[in-house]
Amino acid sequence: MNADSKPSPVVQNLEEFWMPFTANQRFKAEPKILAKAQGMYYISDRGQRILDGTSGLWCSNAGHCRAAITEAVKLQINHMDFGPTFQVGHPIAYRLAERLCEITPEGFDHVFFTNSGSESADTALKIALAYHRARGDSGRTRLIGREKGYHGTNFGGMSVGGIPGNREAFGKLLPDVDHLCHTLDIERNAFSRGLPEHGVELADDLERLCQLHDPATIAAVIVEPIACSGGVVFPADGYLKRLREICDRHGILLIFDEVITGFGRVGKAFAAERFNVIPDIITTAKGLTNGAIPMGAVFVKGSIYEAFMQGPGHGIELFHGYTYSGHPVAAAAALAALDIYQQENLFERTIELESYWEEAVHSLKGLPNIIDIRNYGLIAGIEFSSREGNPGARVFDIFTRCFHEEGLLIRPSVDIIALSPPLIIEKAQIDQIFETLSRVIKETA
Ligand SMILES: Cc1ncc(COP(=O)(O)O)c(C=O)c1O
Repeated sequence: MNADSKPSPVVQNLEEFWMPFTANQRFKAEPKILAKAQGMYYISDRGQRILDGTSGLWCSNAGHCRAAITEAVKLQINHMDFGPTFQVGHPIAYRLAERLCEITPEGFDHVFFTNSGSESADTALKIALAYHRARGDSGRTRLIGREKGYHGTNFGGMSVGGIPGNREAFGKLLPDVDHLCHTLDIERNAFSRGLPEHGVELADDLERLCQLHDPATIAAVIVEPIACSGGVVFPADGYLKRLREICDRHGILLIFDEVITGFGRVGKAFAAERFNVIPDIITTAKGLTNGAIPMGAVFVKGSIYEAFMQGPGHGIELFHGYTYSGHPVAAAAALAALDIYQQENLFERTIELESYWEEAVHSLKGLPNIIDIRNYGLIAGIEFSSREGNPGARVFDIFTRCFHEEGLLIRPSVDIIALSPPLIIEKAQIDQIFETLSRVIKETA
């Protein structure tokens, strides 16, 4: 092995890597380097053990460096490193598709593979547009997202996304896109436990957009069941059900972006099942392979797939795909991850831990500058008031102190701390997260 390709804890040169969603100049002045990972922990380049309160980036639901995933990847890469899926196929992609369709909500019986959450979002939007066209309803070209929504960074996902900072630098986005209002209502719902009580009527904003644009022009509505990247925002109890009803009334497809909520984060394979609201299309990535190899997947109902399968039989039905759709090594990682999730009952474990997690996160109530605490499944958001003229600074200081001095990885999101630990977390580690946070918030915030 070339010395350059061996894992090393030391970064020699920070310059050339243009880091994503990072203040690059600030980072270079004070880098935070993860050198190694195992189970619930990272090890930093300074040798500090860091408890992972974020599953990396909402990915590693079964914890890090799981031997079964590593072995499956090794076996597959030795057996067949790559095989295309355009006009030829390979067994492991079919096996994974079959396994996945066993855990999707009833009626979802086909899967389109991608490499990321962003690609899953754009794939879902394209399938929705092409579906209506395939049925002769080609006037349905409008896409509806939601304020504070995040569907990745490609042009489709960015256009339906609702985080202003992710859009403002890029000029032209997709035309014919509109947004529902977001569901954050701290005034009425502050410190709610689980889904908030107030705000089911916010779903009626879809009726407003239907009246504004003519519902017959709307192809699809895409929402995250829980808007995580936009600030850990939960829908009121009943909101998603009402969205579903309005979509049904007007023939609009409903897409759930489950890139974060998929694979156990809220106690079922998918949030759709936990909330008992079944969309038409589900997008996933991240936990699909436990984060070990990039892969995404888009699940569609049989009726959607069948709408495309009406042609003469020898023509390509959907002009869409990625070189690495169904990549064999990623598929091996995904199959091994699914085995772990099932063998260790990790989705059920989320439900078992949920109330302990809720008590622990709400124990921070009353600490300086905290204006809201929100939780569901193994997700929590802790929102602070902004420092005068310097939004985000308070939480960034907490993040830095936790990383370097306390051995805890949290996710800063402007004035919100987002938490989403691996589902293998022990109660003692939950205690550790909140004891640490309590101390750091008192001293820093
Ligand atoms: C809901 C949702 N959709 C899409 C994405 C984009 O995924 P990726 O970064 O893999 O492209 C993310 C990433 O956090 C996400 O949370």
